[in-house]
Amino acid sequence: MDLLIKNARVVTSSESFESSIGVEGGKVVSISPILAPSGARVYDAAGKVVIPGGIDAHTHMELPVTGTTSADDFYSGTVAAACGGITTIVDFVDTQPGQSVLGALADYRRRADSKVAVDYGLHMMFKGKDLPEIDKIPEVVQKGVPSFKVYTAYKARGLMLEDADIARVMEKVRGAGGLVAIHAESERIIQQLTKENLAAGRTSAKYHALSRPAEAEAEAISRVTKLARRASASIYIVHLSSRLGKAEVEKARQEGTRVFAETCPHYLILTDDVYNRADGRNYVMSPSLKKTEDRAALWEGLGPGGIIETVGSDHCPFRSSEKDWGEEDFTKIPNGVPGTEAIIPLLYSEGVRKGRISMFDLARVTSGAPAMHFGLAPSKGSISVGSNADFVVIDPRKQVRMTADVMHSKIDYSIYDHIRTEGYPVLTVSRGEVVMEDGEFVGGRGKGRFIPRRAAS
Ligand code: URP
Ligand code: ZN
Repeated sequence: MDLLIKNARVVTSSESFESSIGVEGGKVVSISPILAPSGARVYDAAGKVVIPGGIDAHTHMELPVTGTTSADDFYSGTVAAACGGITTIVDFVDTQPGQSVLGALADYRRRADSKVAVDYGLHMMFKGKDLPEIDKIPEVVQKGVPSFKVYTAYKARGLMLEDADIARVMEKVRGAGGLVAIHAESERIIQQLTKENLAAGRTSAKYHALSRPAEAEAEAISRVTKLARRASASIYIVHLSSRLGKAEVEKARQEGTRVFAETCPHYLILTDDVYNRADGRNYVMSPSLKKTEDRAALWEGLGPGGIIETVGSDHCPFRSSEKDWGEEDFTKIPNGVPGTEAIIPLLYSEGVRKGRISMFDLARVTSGAPAMHFGLAPSKGSISVGSNADFVVIDPRKQVRMTADVMHSKIDYSIYDHIRTEGYPVLTVSRGEVVMEDGEFVGGRGKGRFIPRRAAS
C-alpha cells in the first residue's frame, strides 16, 4: 500500500461514512478501518472531510483569443486546479484557421500531455469553419472526445452557428452517442444593445452586462432546447447565469428534452454590481454577471433534482493589462475569468457552510455528476474500491482569504479577494499521488494523463 488516509469522514454523491482509505498503484484498494502496512504514508484526516476529486468540465487553458492567449497554460492551470481540489479538467479544443478537427485535437493532446499536473479530457468546439467536417464527428467520439460545443453567439469571432447548422450538429452527435454543449446567448439581442450603447458613448464595463441581459440567455436556451427536442439530442447548457435561463431549462426538461445545465462559481458568488468598480473590467465574462435574485435561483438549482447538475469554472483568465484594452470600449475586453481553483473552496464555504447546499450536493455537482455525464465514471467521481484514488481533503477550520498571492493562476488579481472562507482544501490526491498539501503544489509537470471518455449513450 502507498497511502492510507485514516479517520476519514468520506462524503460522495450518495454516501457518507467513516473509514480509512487505502491507496495502491493509483487506485483505491481498501475502504475499511485497517492499520497501515509498513512503508505506506499515513495521513490522519481526523476532523476533516474527504470528497471525490473535483472534475472541472469547463476550462480554457492557453486559449487563443484576439491578440493574446488565456493566461494559464496546461501546466499553471492544472497546478491551480490541483490546489483547489480538482483532479480532472475537461478543456475545449479550439480549431485554428487551416486546422482540421482531428489535427486540432492532436495539437491539443501534444501541448497538454507534456504539461498537465492532473488528469484531463477534451471537448471539441464546433465552429462555422468546422461544418464541412461534420462527418468526422463519430471519429472524434472514437478518440475519447464525445462532446461538442456550439455557440449561438460570437458571430464576429466565427464561433456562432445558425440554428439549422446547430440542428445538423445535434443530429450527427446524437448518432455518435455524444453530447452537445451549448453557449446560449442571443446574438441578435446582444448585437443590437451593444450597437446602441457604443453609439451613445456608453463604453465602460457595466455596458458589457447591460448589452447581455438575462433575456438574451433565456431566448437562446428556449430555441436550442426546441432544436434538441426535435433532434432527440442530449444537450447541456454551459455557464447558466440567470433565473430566466434556468426557467427555460426546467420547462424543456418537463417537456421531455434531454437537457441539463452547468453553472460557474462566479455566477453563484458575484453580481453585476462589480462592473461599477474601477477594476470592473476584470469581472468581464460572457454571459455577464446578473442580479441577486439570479444568484439565489442558481443556488436553488444545485439541490437534489435541480436542473443545474454540474459546476464548471469556465476558467479563462486574462491579466489586468489585457483587460485594460477595453478601458475605452467594453467590446475590447478579453472575456473570461479565473475559477478552477475556486470551485470547491467557494461551494464548501459559501454553499455548505451557509446552508445553501449539502455535502452530498457538493460531492455530486463537483464530481459525481460530471463523471457520469462526461463519461468518466466509474473510475472517477466516487471513492470506492477500484476507483481512481482521486480525492480532496477539506479542513472545515481552515480560513483562507482568497487574494491573488494565495491563488495559483498566473494573473495579478483575484475576483474573490473579498472572501475569507470557512474551510478549505488541504490535501489533493490525484491517482494516488499527493499533488497539493497545505496550499503548496507538490505534484509534477506532465504527471496527469489524457482520459479518453466514453460516449454516454
Ligand atoms: O467569457 C468567457 N466565457 N470566456 C471563455 C472563453 C470564451 O470565449 O468562450
Ligand atoms: Zn467557456
